[in-house]
Parts: sequence; C-alpha cells; structure tokens
Amino acid sequence: MRLDVHFTPLGLGPGEVNGRPVIVIDALRATTTVITALGNGAKAVIPAASPEDAVRLAQSLEKNDVLLAGERKSLKIEGFNLGNSPGEMTADVVAGRTIVLATTNGTPALVAAAGGDPVLVCAPANFTAVADRARALLEDRGDLIVLCSGRERQFALEDAYTAGRLVKAARKGLKKLELNDAALVAVALTLVYKNWAKAFAKSAAARQLDELDLSADVDFAAKPDRFHVVPQYLDRRIT
Ligand code: MLT
Repeated sequence: MRLDVHFTPLGLGPGEVNGRPVIVIDALRATTTVITALGNGAKAVIPAASPEDAVRLAQSLEKNDVLLAGERKSLKIEGFNLGNSPGEMTADVVAGRTIVLATTNGTPALVAAAGGDPVLVCAPANFTAVADRARALLEDRGDLIVLCSGRERQFALEDAYTAGRLVKAARKGLKKLELNDAALVAVALTLVYKNWAKAFAKSAAARQLDELDLSADVDFAAKPDRFHVVPQYLDRRIT
C-alpha cells in the first residue's frame, strides 16, 4: 500500500496518473474556489489550462448557462465574469451555472491529473470528507497520489501543509502504508505549524493576496470543513 505526494505537477512522469486515484490540492485558491462554487450549487466547474482555452470552452457551451472565471497574478482576468476568489462563488451568483475556470497553477494541475481514476478535489474547505474518501481508496486500491499544484512551478507551503494533514488523517488505522519522501516531509510540516491559519499566513501566496487586499480569501481558505462535498474531475468537468 503506497501514498505518493507531489509538490508540483512537474514531478509527474508521462501517464503516471493513468488509472490511479489522485487528489488535487491548490488551497490558495483554486480548489477552495471550486469546492465553494459546487458547495453553493454550481452545476459544474470546467478547469482550463489557459485563459484562451477557457474562452474557447465557454464559447462551446450554452451562453446563458456559463460563467467565465479566473485570475492572473491573483487578479480577475479582463473580460471574465468572475475572478478566483471563493468569496465571489455565492449561491445567488453560481447556483445552476457552469463555471469555466482558468488559474495560474490550480487548473493546470487539475488538467495534468486527467486520466487519474478517480480525480478528487481537496482543500481545507472539504477536508474531512476528502480524508474519509482517501482512506477508503487506500483500503480498496492500496494506492493514492496527492498532487499539489504548487506556485509557478515551485513548492507552495499551503499545499504541502494541506497534503501533510491529509496523509495523517487518511493513514489513521492503516498498516504498512509506504510514503514517498515528499509525503514524509509534508507530514513533518504538520509538526511545525499547529493549525491551517498559521501555516497559510507564512506562505508566499498569502503574502501576494495580502498585498492585493485579498486577505479575506486567505482566512476563508484556512477554515476547515465548510462543505461536505468531494468534487470529482471526470470528462473535463468537475461535479
Ligand atoms: C492558482 O491557481 O494559481 C491560484 O489559485 C492563484 C490565485 O488564485 O491567486
């Protein structure tokens, strides 16, 4: 039985995820935003590898049904309906709609996980629900990849800390679970920071959001178990 953590998608070999269970994390902010949108009644979220890809995808969908969302340098992409703030994904805005989302790190990581089976979406916002699924997948399949999106191809503290918490919660009661080195380091991070808020506050992503007066998004993202949903990415859609 093994669990591999990847701090960015860069470490993934070609086809490495194919047929394997994968959990994707981009706590600040993409997976938090996806979970919040679906938790507030969105029909689906379609992750795009780029803003141009998002516009193309949106044009192929029913006009009244779709919302374009996304960020560059954490700011709303020009011409899009929404940015990438979980606070924007309120029920009155997203309920019954399909959201095409393009972000810098999170949506490319989701697209990189395509082919996994299943591909689940994780952040503190749905932590306990995902941890229960992770343990069940390890028991049933004996295998799990935890894929952090990272930040501009680099290690991201908030994602690695979230991965460490997930490994600790998922392995409870399991015997002989082999962890790769990244998983061991992720678990060690949970001994350094005593809670989500402390870990997130130390991250480069939080500093960038603070500079843009988006600190409320950091506080929102660091609060666990807001929703009891486990979104799944399948056939280019997250539902
Ligand atoms: C990302 O996907 O790159 C992040 O979520 C960026 C952000 O929202 O600021």
